[in-house]
Amino acid sequence: MSMCRVTGQAGFGQCRSALLVLRRHKATAAAIQSKDGGEVVKPFSALPGPRGLPFIGTLFHTMRNSSRLHESIQERHETYGPIFREKLGILDAVFLMDVDAVESLLRQDGKYPSRMQVDVWHEYRNIAGIRKGLLLNEGETWHALRRIVDRHMLKTRTVESYTGDFNTVVAEFLDRMDRILPDDKEMPSPDEELFNWSLESISRILYEKKLGCLLDGKSKDAQDFINSAHEIFATSRTLAFLPPHVSKVIMPKLYKQHMAAWETSFRVAKGVIDETIERIKNKVESDEGDVGFITHFLKENMDKQDLYVNVWELMAAAVDTTSYTTLAMLNEISRCPRVQDALYEEITRVVPAGEQPTADHLKEMHYIKAVIKETLRMYPTVGGITRIAQNDLVLMNYSIPKGTKIWVDPYTMGRLRRHYDDPDTFLPERWLRATRTTKPHPFAWLPFGFGVRACVGRRVAELEMQLLVSQFVRKYKLEAISTEPFRIKYDLILLPKDPVRIRLIDRESA
Ligand code: HEM
Repeated sequence: MSMCRVTGQAGFGQCRSALLVLRRHKATAAAIQSKDGGEVVKPFSALPGPRGLPFIGTLFHTMRNSSRLHESIQERHETYGPIFREKLGILDAVFLMDVDAVESLLRQDGKYPSRMQVDVWHEYRNIAGIRKGLLLNEGETWHALRRIVDRHMLKTRTVESYTGDFNTVVAEFLDRMDRILPDDKEMPSPDEELFNWSLESISRILYEKKLGCLLDGKSKDAQDFINSAHEIFATSRTLAFLPPHVSKVIMPKLYKQHMAAWETSFRVAKGVIDETIERIKNKVESDEGDVGFITHFLKENMDKQDLYVNVWELMAAAVDTTSYTTLAMLNEISRCPRVQDALYEEITRVVPAGEQPTADHLKEMHYIKAVIKETLRMYPTVGGITRIAQNDLVLMNYSIPKGTKIWVDPYTMGRLRRHYDDPDTFLPERWLRATRTTKPHPFAWLPFGFGVRACVGRRVAELEMQLLVSQFVRKYKLEAISTEPFRIKYDLILLPKDPVRIRLIDRESA
């Protein structure tokens, strides 16, 4: 079987020399032996890792390398092993990459798992007097919100019912491609076009209306929302490691930019939500079936302030994650003719010409699902699955006190030879029962997290991507223009570093 080499790893090694490994914190309290000769649990202070400077730890190194944090963690893993501790400014965390320890950690989650927080995200909400939604809330309040959202986002039948809406957006997207494709056939601004698709898709189910992102004259509000989402992530890359009151003084411009981005994004979302509430108020009073999110939240008597933040956070969490994953996927497909042929074969075999995939068709389409899994193995958009230990724990024979921040790194874990054969190769076949040679460990693949706090939008995101990518490949043959290594960068989420360049050849006119 011919395989497509993906050289995404190239260049990582070259950067190693640039990595400033501050004073190495050796495991001083070496394994204490118990009387019977067995190893007893080592103290927290014995965890290996770069110690850095008092109070700030490796903050300077982190700030200088903030766009390559994923590579830095990978390098620390090579130096210190699958568990180490590093203090990146205010982010003092234990990094964990051993599948068994990760499984044991996540299985102990409890009823109200707690994630590490980005302080500056809370700062905006505190200053603006806005509540916290699912993303940032904790404890019982989080649990009550989550139960409501789960019903509309994770139930199979409900998610399947979004197929028609998402297909309508795919048709609009493909029509738009037809209109805007230039003579040289290079897809114009793939990232921007995928943001439009992703925002339009999520808006259909949140607001029960067409936002118009794929029309020629996109609204200013839609563009403002997309821009603000990018700015929130890009500015957080630096601000996440400092207390907000310090950033405000030493990086006032960046801090203001960050706050302004939240403000814009909330303003746009609130405007659409208010307009939706007005439009659907009759539906809420009646018993009409097949309703969207806001109708559903109102029917559940969700408080209006909670409704604002939850719909807003769902919209914000959906757009960049789904579109960057799809961008990485289209890039891989364009570089792997074998994968592209298999995708084309599947969609043309399962879905009759002229029709769009239904939920039943998708049940037979295993290859597209394997392509999505493989993309997220190599490019997990959310770079860290984080937890705050709710009790004292023991991980890999180290004692971890309650309250410790723990960072599980799906990027490093997805590229380890001990988890995957040939980890630098894009190989969807590894996920198919019929073709795989080994079965990947379930805790080595965690792009959506795990357990009751896992991504609430997983099924929605997967459905959106299955429908778009399969129909895109049916319509166009994708040709890679750039053969340079595909590099990614860290902007709080992981995203392509260089522009993705693809030529689209319409299969009907080829
Ligand atoms: C490829 C796309 C996506 C990826 C890779 C992704 C990944 C993640 C990850 C890793 C988490 C944290 C899980 C954990 O702590 O265990 C998360 C949480 C979350 N995601 Fe996603 N996500 C994606 C798409 C979406 C979409 C489309 C939505 C909304 C429709 C969404 C909404 C959320 C929300 C609200 C949370 C917080 C859930 C909670 O704390 O209860 N995500 N996501």
